Amino acid sequence: MSYDVDLNFIFRLPTKILFGPGTAKEVGMEVDELKGTKALIVTDRDLVKTDLVNFVRNALGTRCVGIFSDVTPDTGVHIINAGSEYGRSLGADILVSVGGGSAIDTAKGMAICLTKGGKLEDHAGLNMLGSPLIPHIVIPTTAGTGSEVTYAAVIKDHEQKRKLLFADNFLIPNIAILDPSMTTGMPKSLTAATGMDALCHCIEAIPSMQREPITDGLAFHGIRLIREFLPRAVQNGEDIVARGQMLIAATLGGAAFSNAQLGLVHALAHCVGAAFGVPHGVANSILLPHCILYNLDACPDLYARIAEAMGKEVRGMDPLKAAEQAAIAIWEFTRALGLPQTLREVNVEEAGLVQCANEALMDGTIVYNPKPVFDPDEVLKIYQNAF
Ligand SMILES: [Fe+2]
Repeated sequence: MSYDVDLNFIFRLPTKILFGPGTAKEVGMEVDELKGTKALIVTDRDLVKTDLVNFVRNALGTRCVGIFSDVTPDTGVHIINAGSEYGRSLGADILVSVGGGSAIDTAKGMAICLTKGGKLEDHAGLNMLGSPLIPHIVIPTTAGTGSEVTYAAVIKDHEQKRKLLFADNFLIPNIAILDPSMTTGMPKSLTAATGMDALCHCIEAIPSMQREPITDGLAFHGIRLIREFLPRAVQNGEDIVARGQMLIAATLGGAAFSNAQLGLVHALAHCVGAAFGVPHGVANSILLPHCILYNLDACPDLYARIAEAMGKEVRGMDPLKAAEQAAIAIWEFTRALGLPQTLREVNVEEAGLVQCANEALMDGTIVYNPKPVFDPDEVLKIYQNAF
């Protein structure tokens, strides 16, 4: 593995990370450290009925001024604006998100509105914020998105039928509390799908146009952890060691892609997700091996290293054959996890793929793909192979 002679990069990971079973009970002290006095919990409608949110509320004690629990799996501008109104009415000065990517991204959006005023749509774009937001502590209940350490949030504008991208270093959460006991209740299918999202973050960060040695280190370790511990976490949701290592792997993936960026897989997954409601992790999981095969000749050495991290023996093999083992390893892995293998199985309609192919070319992640992609017919071919 080599890097350009003129390699030049900035690596950023400002989030303080606490790890360990039971660490969620420290949330009150972390609020104090950030000088928060009125904490608002941001969570979803299902989680609010569980002991998890109750546990966090009790740990916050009198610091907790309310719970906003209207987050849906596909969070939107109207939800964030409503949550911000609620937060304003309570004088909230710190947010504690408890949930998966949707709850975390909702809190990122609310932090913008509570700090800058106005509505969320007034602040969309790249690096528009200019100054720090009110603090945000994340307690993830899934292990996948890595949003607890990333600078981005993707929010749907349901009225305008568009997705707004928020990308800014001031969106990076201040503290992530990785408590494996907060993830043991996750069902098997969600564990597998979110785990594959994390694996995709790691695998896409490695050949990315913005790769560098620190992100490579994080991503390769993430792959090894996921290979070993995702099957265990799916097999037995109460396996606290596996749950913990998966939380770490998801954070490694988030830190890697927040700096190195992603590529083709996410571009294609975003579009079938928006058009056909395919869950993000499932779309990634199906598309990943097909995108690896498409990219193979751009950097066979890197894909061979990925194959090794996935447990394949590639020494002495022809470089392209060795690289191909990465795609084969993913198919074997996802089949064993019981995940769908084709887009057809997840209700994607073949007729809609032409439009998805055109839209994928405009997705922000595609520019970092190791092999330049400009031709919608090539993208369509990848979709059809995965169909
Ligand atoms: Fe993702």
